[in-house]
Amino acid sequence: MSFPDQRPRRLRRTPALRRLVAETRLHVDDLVAPLFVKEGIREPQPIESMPGVVQHTQESLRKEVRSLAALGIPGVILFGIPAAKDARGSEADAADGVVQVALRSLRDEVGDDLVLMADACLDEYTDHGHCGLLTADGEIDNDSTLERYASIAVAQADAGAAVIAPSGMMDGQVGAIRAALDASHHPDTAILAYSAKYASALYGPFRDAAECAPQFGDRRGYQMQPANAREALDETALDVAEGADMIMVKPALAYLDVISSLRQSFDVPVAAYHVSGEYSMVKAAAEKGWIDGEAVALEHLLAIRRAGADFVLTYFARDIAETLGS
Ligand code: PBG
Repeated sequence: MSFPDQRPRRLRRTPALRRLVAETRLHVDDLVAPLFVKEGIREPQPIESMPGVVQHTQESLRKEVRSLAALGIPGVILFGIPAAKDARGSEADAADGVVQVALRSLRDEVGDDLVLMADACLDEYTDHGHCGLLTADGEIDNDSTLERYASIAVAQADAGAAVIAPSGMMDGQVGAIRAALDASHHPDTAILAYSAKYASALYGPFRDAAECAPQFGDRRGYQMQPANAREALDETALDVAEGADMIMVKPALAYLDVISSLRQSFDVPVAAYHVSGEYSMVKAAAEKGWIDGEAVALEHLLAIRRAGADFVLTYFARDIAETLGS
C-alpha cells in the first residue's frame, strides 16, 4: 500500500465532500433562546455586559418570540425580573407575576408552535439574591425552598409553560416539582433539570441581566464545584430517578467532558447551557476585531453538539438561526 497517510485529506477537498462526511451537524432545531422579561419598563432595556441582549417588555417579548418561531427556533426559556423583591420571592409564583403574565400572552401568541420553558428559581425574586429561602442564620434552607419551587412550578404550568426548568440546585427539587405538577393536573408538563450546574464565574453578565447577584456570600454551597466530574453523574442519576424528562449541563464549553459522560450514561435528552459569560467573551473579542464572532459562535455550538448535547440554550440562537437559514 502506498501513502496511506494521505487518505484522510481526500475527503476534505471540497465543501460538498466535507458536508457529506460531517459527523456532527448544527441545526436550528438544536437551539433554545433564553429571554429576559422585566416588569414595569416601557421600552426594552439593553444589557451592557451582553451586547445584543435586552430585558424585554411584555410587548417586545411577544414580538421577539413570534419572530424566533418564524425562524424555526423550537424553544425559548424565560427569566423574569419583578418590580419588587422580598425575602421569599413572592412574585415568583404570583398569578400576576411577570413570567406568568408573559407565559399567558405567549401561549396566546404562538400556541404550540414553539416550546415555552420557564426557569424555576428564586434568585431573580429574592431581595438577598439567593436561590433559596434563608434561615435566621443566613443559611440556605433546602426543604422550605422546595415548597417554594413546587409552588412556582405549578404557577408556571398554570400559565402555560410546557417545560419547567429548575435551576436552583436544591436537593430533591425535581421530585418535589414532579409531585406538585402531578397533583395539580399537570402530568404533561415536562421537567428539564439543571442537573450538573456548576458554581461558575461565567454567570457574571447574567446577574446583570436578571438583576440577581447574591447580596452576600456566593452560590458554592449549592452549585457544584468545577473540580468534580464524577459527582455530575451522581447528581444527574438522582434527578432522573426523581422524574427529570431532560437533563442539563451548565456552563457548556468548560464542561464538555461532563456533557460527554452524561450522554453516555443516560438515555434522556441532554441539554447544555452556553451561558452569559461564554456569549459575552465572544461578543467582546469580536467587537475589538480580535476574532470572527460568528465563526467562533458556530464552532462553539458545534463543539457542544459534538460532545453529546442534543440541544443548546444560547444567547446566539437568533444569530445562528439567521446564519443557518441564509
Ligand atoms: C439562576 C440562574 C443563573 C443562570 C441561569 N439561572 C445564575 C446563577 O446561577 O447565578 C445563569 C445563566 C447565564 O449565565 O447565562 N436562576
